[in-house]
Amino acid sequence: MNKIEKKTYSITTYGCDMNKSDSERLASALESLGYSLVKKNKVPDLLVFNSCSVRQSAVDRIYGQMGKFTSFKKKNPDFRAAVTGCILPKDRKKLLKRFDFIFNIKDLDKLALILKEPKKYYKLSKEEIASFRVAARKQDFEERSDECSSFRVAARKQDFEERSDECSSFRVAARKQDFEERSDECSYFKIRPKYHNKFSCLVPISFGCNRFCTYCAVPYTRGLEINRPSKDILNEVKELISEGPKEIILLGQTVSSWQDPKDKNYVFVDLLKDLEKLPGKFWIRFNSPYVLDFNDKLIDFLAEAQKINNYLNLPIQSGNNQILKKMKREYSAGQYLKVLSSLKDRVPDFSFSTDIIVGFCGETEKQFQDSFNVFKKISPSMAYIAKYSTRPGTVAAKIFKDSVPLKIKKQRHAELTRLLRQTSKSNLQKEVGRTLEVLVNDYLPNKKECLAKTRNFKAIRFKGNKKLLGKFVKVKIVKTREFELEGKLFKN
Ligand code: 5AD
Ligand code: SF4
Repeated sequence: MNKIEKKTYSITTYGCDMNKSDSERLASALESLGYSLVKKNKVPDLLVFNSCSVRQSAVDRIYGQMGKFTSFKKKNPDFRAAVTGCILPKDRKKLLKRFDFIFNIKDLDKLALILKEPKKYYKLSKEEIASFRVAARKQDFEERSDECSSFRVAARKQDFEERSDECSSFRVAARKQDFEERSDECSYFKIRPKYHNKFSCLVPISFGCNRFCTYCAVPYTRGLEINRPSKDILNEVKELISEGPKEIILLGQTVSSWQDPKDKNYVFVDLLKDLEKLPGKFWIRFNSPYVLDFNDKLIDFLAEAQKINNYLNLPIQSGNNQILKKMKREYSAGQYLKVLSSLKDRVPDFSFSTDIIVGFCGETEKQFQDSFNVFKKISPSMAYIAKYSTRPGTVAAKIFKDSVPLKIKKQRHAELTRLLRQTSKSNLQKEVGRTLEVLVNDYLPNKKECLAKTRNFKAIRFKGNKKLLGKFVKVKIVKTREFELEGKLFKN
């Protein structure tokens, strides 16, 4: 990349770990172009919003920031604002009216051009940028858009069973893609991130998603799944742990569907096994798996693994089978329960969180009650409860009506949140009296408290000192607080 004049930048990230990881790559790409992080309370030359658009609320937050731009421009005439991340085409158009430019996070290798001549970049993007998208769309989209209209017809006939079969052709088409080519094309992976946290590092292993859950924007904003070669992942992790990090978080939209682009027989569990073999004391977490990827081989391995966390975020999305079908989640509530009970039985001290959506198109009171009852039964330690919001361009936006009133969505959200307080508390209660190994990831000097996580990802605080940051220590659990534990440093 060519160096350009010394300028300052700032990045505001809204979203999940994947967005945070994108920001780490963006920071590194900007710094390689001569940009430096803006000083506190100064207006940068470049402000980048890196946002997810999985829910409308994230997009609204960007809109909420736009009012400040006029005063920023007055303070710094060179001020420019940009947007990247998972942005839907409809939002892109609107945002372009107020932002100086918008770019695809996968195009970081073209950042010099993007910063200098965004118009040229946009023109390029039509023809050759997002090569994977072009490849994917050229070969699949015509086919897929036909399928999509049959989806619509079927939907109107309310023939969901048949439609979910049809939909698997989405994935077949996607998998027919030449993964090798696409992973090479994704230069995004080649940029070494500026890791934000010294002790806990985000390592993306795939990009995009082939599942096309009907409510979800991700396959449209990030494109079809691209897997990163195992060699690169193993090298990055090896390097990281030799430099000090104690926790590695593998990321992917459906992280468990990862397979090596050069050897399709080398799948997610094989990668975990090789990571586990790396020498040194460290923990590995992965986010977020898909329930149907949990076969015996993976569960057997997780049951014995020492470095892989005994915690999972396992999204259920709904506890009602009709809604699950309508969402094109390809499992039933029963299948989810089966996988979960196998994990609970086999993996020592297993703990989990889930994602669940309330008020999806047409969700009746009875269907919500199914979600409520299943939630109670599975009793997660934590849950990300979302009120459904229509994402333009998704299958749900095209064929279903967002018919549940906001008031009802809020009530259902509140009901599940109340239930979560109970399930979280009863999960935390089990730990009281135990002495557990924890990894210290933060220190609050005012309170002289360390914040840490257990291997099964329960949050804990205890009196300690700054020197414990990034260390594994033993803590005796004394009581529960809301969504966390309180303990005492154990000295032997
Ligand atoms: N509305 C509400 N929640 C959504 N999610 C994804 N798309 C939507 C949507 N349109 C939630 C899912 C997913 C999490 C990342 O965000 O629960 O697991
Ligand atoms: Fe979205 Fe479904 Fe892919 Fe998750 S699996 S990113 S919810 S399409």
